[in-house]
Amino acid sequence: MDDARSRLTRDGIRIYDAVDFAGMHTAGRLAAELLDRIAEHVVPGATTGGLDRLITDWVAQAGATSATIGYKGYAHASCISVNHVVCHGIPGSKIPGRSSDELRDGDILNIDITVIVDGWFGDSSRMYVAGEAKPFVRRLLDVTHDALMKGIEVIRPGRTFGDIGHAIQAYAEGNGMSVVRDFCGHGLGRVFHAPPNVLHYGRPGTGAVLEEGMFFTVEPMINLGGPQTKVLSDDWTAITRDKKLSAQFEHSVGVTATGAEIFTLSPAGRFHPTLGA
Ligand code: MF3
Ligand code: CO
Ligand code: CO
Repeated sequence: MDDARSRLTRDGIRIYDAVDFAGMHTAGRLAAELLDRIAEHVVPGATTGGLDRLITDWVAQAGATSATIGYKGYAHASCISVNHVVCHGIPGSKIPGRSSDELRDGDILNIDITVIVDGWFGDSSRMYVAGEAKPFVRRLLDVTHDALMKGIEVIRPGRTFGDIGHAIQAYAEGNGMSVVRDFCGHGLGRVFHAPPNVLHYGRPGTGAVLEEGMFFTVEPMINLGGPQTKVLSDDWTAITRDKKLSAQFEHSVGVTATGAEIFTLSPAGRFHPTLGA
């Protein structure tokens, strides 16, 4: 834990330097590459347990470490959240409401991977479709992806975390969808979760002021129904209370002098499952 060269803001947010940006870039790129590679395996009949085994092997082959295995007792290299699962779905366990972990045509799922490379954490997630999704489902994916990017677009020194949350909330709600309040983004760096909590809703001009050198995730969860969630008795799986569909995209970013560097950009340009980018 060598943070000797960095300082903390009044809000307890660490400020990193150019060498640290390079470390985050490498870790973030690996997370993005793994999310690219898993795409062709997401098909009807695949199992979430099988997808997680692939990811586990690939993390090891890359000489990296999974941040989630052993994290608060979690035992897997990914979280896989299907349909009305909001986040923290456990690969290999039954898809809620079903008798197995097998994907069916039309299922949507978020795969969330966090890797550690040379001590730096790369955290990213995206949506995938097994087979083909109906138009109203594709619209959820589009709005969620675009809400994330609208949040990232406002990032620059002098803006606030409330500005980010407001941009996401305004876009999602403007499209008739709701923003989950029970989970948020987070600072990261040489640790998985650090200050601040990055809310995906809020009022402009509120919250901590962004400064060059901050690292954090933006990872909005957007619902077709209401924003309420509940955690199942496995203590991890979070679902929508109304059982309507939920989607999430996540990037790890760093604040630069003029905007944001996205550490987890897809090398293959396939962050969005159907549009690319
Ligand atoms: N990667 C998730 C995040 O975006 C955290 C997963 S923690 C786990 O913060 F233990 F559930 F894997
Ligand atoms: Co995260
Ligand atoms: Co994540």
